[in-house]
Amino acid sequence: SEIVKIALIGLGTVGTGVARVLLEESERLTRRCGKQIKLAKVVVRDKSRPRHIDLPDEMVTDNLQDVLDDESIQIAVQLIGGINPAKDYMERLLDSGKHVVSANKALLCEHGEELFSRAREQGRTIAFEAAVAGGVPIIHVLSQAMVGNQITSIEAILNGTSNFILSEMFLGGRDYADVLREAQELGYAEADPALDVDGTDAAQKLGLLTQLAFGTKVSLDQFPRQGIDKLPLEDLLYADELGYSVRLIAVARLLNEQLEMHVQPTLVQLDKPLAQVSGVNNMVALEGDVVGKTWYSGYGAGQNPTASAVIADLVDTVAGRSDLIFPFMDLWSDRPARKVLPAE
Ligand code: HSE
Repeated sequence: SEIVKIALIGLGTVGTGVARVLLEESERLTRRCGKQIKLAKVVVRDKSRPRHIDLPDEMVTDNLQDVLDDESIQIAVQLIGGINPAKDYMERLLDSGKHVVSANKALLCEHGEELFSRAREQGRTIAFEAAVAGGVPIIHVLSQAMVGNQITSIEAILNGTSNFILSEMFLGGRDYADVLREAQELGYAEADPALDVDGTDAAQKLGLLTQLAFGTKVSLDQFPRQGIDKLPLEDLLYADELGYSVRLIAVARLLNEQLEMHVQPTLVQLDKPLAQVSGVNNMVALEGDVVGKTWYSGYGAGQNPTASAVIADLVDTVAGRSDLIFPFMDLWSDRPARKVLPAE
């Protein structure tokens, strides 16, 4: 079968998981997409750092140019966080004719508009299922399964680290700092975990979902966000006595053609689905005008769940399906602008 060469940019927690699936499950992937996906290059920041996967030395480079110059490489799976140098890398990859698969919510929330239109100009795609809710395929749901609906509300738990901390503090009576450290060790937290616990990570993901669901680009400074970093254990215990669970909830609702949005710790009635989400799980509740209310949940962070989403995007890209979400992402400006207000 035809061989499709790909490069992996970044060999951290998720990159290592993706490399492992590519190497160990190559027959399965070939059956699923009818082409053989061949990992040709892996770009790392520091070649001397110990790796958690065995790779031939000639495959590993610390120079992105090796990928840009190799015309036989068609797809770059870019798994580095933050804006710099991720933005510059993505632009150069697109300009050199590569399709991109990315999990970078910070980059796509903040600069998605220009990156998506750049990709379109180059006739390339950016797939980003792994950027929101880890292994929960919410980008596919919004861009494909829900295509007949006007989404009217999103209510979601989008940060695995925060939900893990809330669960462990409440159930185990554990100390905040101790649980946060464990979330870092388990590979859930961002490189800078402040972004998890202050609500920024959830807000970036909500921004991306909002752009898909409502066709409106929203920047972080347009809606309020608050994290779980200042919640005392007593609040969780009191809430429980009153029949509530505290969860970090991200909301975007369409009301009178305006968008109401926020991210904040919220009391959720114990019998509601969002209250029952424990550990590193995420949940997204979507309401559409045709379908009604639907819920999606599963692991929202971690090596394998996130790798699962990346691999799905990669197979979509190889199979020529990754352009399906584009009409939603870079043509949003054709739609009426919506005013953004803080949600109640
Ligand atoms: N730090 C993120 C989280 C990883 O805890 O949800 C997944 O995006």
